[in-house]
Amino acid sequence: MTYNIAVIPGDGIGKEVMEATILVLDNLDVDFNYTYCEAGDECLEKNGSALPDETLEIVRSSDACLFGAAGETAADVIVRLRQEMKMFANLRPVKSYPNTNSLSDNIDFIIVRENTEGLYIADKEELTEEGAIAKRIITREAEERVIDYAFKYAVENNKSKVTGVHKANVLKKSDGLFKEIFYEVGERYQDIEKEDFYVDATAMYLITQPQNFEVIVTTNLFGDILSDEGAGLVGGLGLIPSANIGENMALFEPVHGSAPDIAGKNIANPLAMMLSAVMMLRYLNENNAADKFENAILKLLSENKVLTKDLGGSSTTKEVTNEIINLL
Ligand code: NAI
Ligand code: MG
Repeated sequence: MTYNIAVIPGDGIGKEVMEATILVLDNLDVDFNYTYCEAGDECLEKNGSALPDETLEIVRSSDACLFGAAGETAADVIVRLRQEMKMFANLRPVKSYPNTNSLSDNIDFIIVRENTEGLYIADKEELTEEGAIAKRIITREAEERVIDYAFKYAVENNKSKVTGVHKANVLKKSDGLFKEIFYEVGERYQDIEKEDFYVDATAMYLITQPQNFEVIVTTNLFGDILSDEGAGLVGGLGLIPSANIGENMALFEPVHGSAPDIAGKNIANPLAMMLSAVMMLRYLNENNAADKFENAILKLLSENKVLTKDLGGSSTTKEVTNEIINLL
């Protein structure tokens, strides 16, 4: 089987980390048909649009999309892609790797964040005479969809527990509903353990007992905040991948941006983009290739020799890429 992959390198180090990642993918036993497309600041300058219709069409007709990074146009590009492709879940794995600035060892959980509603609905925010009001939207349909995705993810990835995170003691109606749906959906997954916590307590438990967590599912704003706490927990941007999942489309991207301060110097850490590609392989059920790729990254980090500057090394993007290919 050949997978059609839309590839959007974008701006700055997006291009460098994408090139590095494709080189590794080409050394795995999976067939990809890549279609390169444009988006971002340079694309805006050249074509008058940061996200041309042609790019949207290519993404729409692909099996999955790999995205590097955009610059100042990031919101116009990535937020619009998420909306157009109805990508309802944002996945952020939080994993401690050897020789990185992780606060503790054996951290390995994933945050599944609802991506279409909650407090992040721009047109529900308004100025009033007293100040401003933002509405928080919780629909049964959207929350059930994302919670069900979290449980499915747990089953497919050999996780034993899903934690629902909310603030139902204060937001009795909206988060009361979220909690109710969490346990309703959970009924369908008898083999998976369920627990729920308040978001403020979770913020503390992520620091004091991060090993407790396997899969966290939560609403938009809470997920946004806890994801960045998760990134801090395991040592920062250069290693954090993410996925945006929809009914028929999924897009995989590093959490970092175009990093203009280091762009074009061949020193960007390609591992966040590479770990995003590992997530794509798992999404496509190419688990052997995913394991092989992830194990090579693990070995690279354990060896602690060929690393980019952000991880305390002095190697270039290209040297790291070649070492990963050697380790496959
Ligand atoms: P950034 O993530 O690009 O950079 C933050 C800091 O981390 C910089 O010092 C950078 O050199 C470093 N860094 C980031 N990724 C790295 C990597 N792979 N290896 C080594 N060092 C790395 O965030 P910043 O500076 O806030 O934004 C720069 C541009 O990126 C802006 O135009 C912003 O709009 C855009 N951006 C795009 C995103 C996207 O496309 N999804 C996400 C975040 C920012
Ligand atoms: Mg954020």
